[in-house]
Amino acid sequence: MMDGGSTIPGYSVALEWVKNLFSRTIKSSNCVPKHIGFVMDGNRRYARKNEIEIKEGHEAGFSSLSQVLELCYEAGVDTATVFAFSIENFRRTPSEVDHLMRLAREKIRQITQHGEIAEKYGVRIRVIGDVSRLHKSVYDDIVATTELTKSNTRATLNICFPYTSREEMLHSIKDVIAGGKKSGEINEASIERSLYTGDDPPLDLLIRTSGVTRLSDFLLWQVSERGVVIELFDCLWPEFGPMKMAWALLKFAFRKTFSDKENELEDDDGVLENQDDLYIKKTL
Ligand code: FPP
Ligand code: MG
Repeated sequence: MMDGGSTIPGYSVALEWVKNLFSRTIKSSNCVPKHIGFVMDGNRRYARKNEIEIKEGHEAGFSSLSQVLELCYEAGVDTATVFAFSIENFRRTPSEVDHLMRLAREKIRQITQHGEIAEKYGVRIRVIGDVSRLHKSVYDDIVATTELTKSNTRATLNICFPYTSREEMLHSIKDVIAGGKKSGEINEASIERSLYTGDDPPLDLLIRTSGVTRLSDFLLWQVSERGVVIELFDCLWPEFGPMKMAWALLKFAFRKTFSDKENELEDDDGVLENQDDLYIKKTL
């Protein structure tokens, strides 16, 4: 299932075929990002632009996400971490917050159903963030649904809900101090192990849409690791879809294969010798 043009006979079959071929080629390149983060920004602007309701904009955002995830997992991506709800989003109108809560519940249930993403790609679904801020009924429902996927081992989907990076770091430090299972001495390694993503592969690629050049308190610790590539797209998230994702995977593979000399150019203090070599690439 891809975007646009689906009324032409055979179009979706042909696109599915191209998608499978592309995924297999990318997978065999061995230059697939193991862990990708997504800031899915621009759903409300998409709604305004297309004169639809805000909640329909978020639903279009989920549709884009599910197609993007299918492509990623098919291409061999191990972990996807998606920013579904920021702690800051609690400041939005009660009706929008309520809709986002219901949407997440409904969609998490959908992707764990028979034949859907979790089963098809062996994906373990985790909801990460300050879940204590969720209404108990939402929390209980999400826990019950995600439990169904806990023995899946081929891939992971981290749904950040509700999340901010600063809360994640605070939670981690408290965990280390409290002597939790991963703790001990307070140092960078122990703090990193106690982050919500502590058991995941290191972040390789961060994708953000909507032309905004901010990190919005998302994966700040993880993105600071040397070698992480940040890709900023000007399109709104519902317009991102599998085609632009394919482009991002291709670019990443190309970069890792032919042009990843930047780490060698970088001094120990993190200053690039050649200022043309920037990790943040803006894709138009
Ligand atoms: C940002 O756009 C998007 C969100 C706050 C919600 C994203 C949620 C989804 C795509 C659904 C996710 C569901 C699951 C189960 C993962 P915005 O609202 O900030 O739009 P704007 O930038 O145009 O104002
Ligand atoms: Mg936004």
